[in-house]
Amino acid sequence: MRVILLGTAAGGGFPQWNCACPLCQRAWAGELAPRRQECVAVSGNGRDWWLLNASPDIRAQLLATPMLRPGSGPRDTPVRGVLLTDAEVDHTLGLAVLRGVGLTLYSTAPVRYALESDLRLRGLLDRYRPWSWQDSGRPDGFELTGGLRITACPVSSKAPKYAAAPATAPDWVTALRIEDQATGGVLVYAPCLADWPDHLDELLASANCALIDGTFFSANELGAAVRSHEQGAGQSLMGHLPVTGEGGTLTALSRYPELRRIYTHLNNTNPLLDPASPERKLVELGDVEICSDGFEFTV
Ligand code: MLT
Ligand code: MN
Ligand code: ZN
Repeated sequence: MRVILLGTAAGGGFPQWNCACPLCQRAWAGELAPRRQECVAVSGNGRDWWLLNASPDIRAQLLATPMLRPGSGPRDTPVRGVLLTDAEVDHTLGLAVLRGVGLTLYSTAPVRYALESDLRLRGLLDRYRPWSWQDSGRPDGFELTGGLRITACPVSSKAPKYAAAPATAPDWVTALRIEDQATGGVLVYAPCLADWPDHLDELLASANCALIDGTFFSANELGAAVRSHEQGAGQSLMGHLPVTGEGGTLTALSRYPELRRIYTHLNNTNPLLDPASPERKLVELGDVEICSDGFEFTV
């Protein structure tokens, strides 16, 4: 399976348009590489490509990726559809950019509900050209053109902040297990981890590569960067486990030394954005990678 990291930053990207925190200032100054909002493209055969989430930066991401260029017919695209892990703004607004082509979209029921009732994206898309709206939560999984087999595993009940009347549901956020049926290669994609459920361990035990939530390095980084003492200014309420500290993902990932492990969805306050930082050294010593936008690899 071919995997292309179209974007590796959390919501807002890096730098964030309204942010002058120390790291964003270094990105504005051209000292640190900018990153687009988190989004991935995968393909089992190199011809049929599937997007994992649809970031608001999707147009620039498609333009920057030769594999995803249109052709050979005047309106042909190798993009077959989108698989959503959640309904967050930074993972769904790109859908509006993709209007006019009837793609296939896989999500859980609460995510579909948010797209329909809160963001109104379902009606918007279908009125340009009907999409195929599919359930990602089938227990036995489903197959995608190009030879990929997907299972979506619920990982948290965190609804997006914009949802007006969020139903309580365990599958607001899922992790995706993506298997190339020809090679047996397995990618686990989990960019939103509010906690570490037991079944994530089962997924990782059978995987070759994991793309994991690396939003925050430490537990109070966000509140500290924007100098806020407001309740909830820190990320503990934002649905992302930190990399370090108690319950951090770095320790959890250390149990899988054979697995290729990559952090993604990096927030603009995360010191891992600086390749020369001691925090980055620590993560690299733990054999977890931080990759640039556009990075392509095979699983
Ligand atoms: C998240 O990853 O938790 C969301 O993108 C937060 C947000 O929408 O600001
Ligand atoms: Mn996000
Ligand atoms: Zn910033």
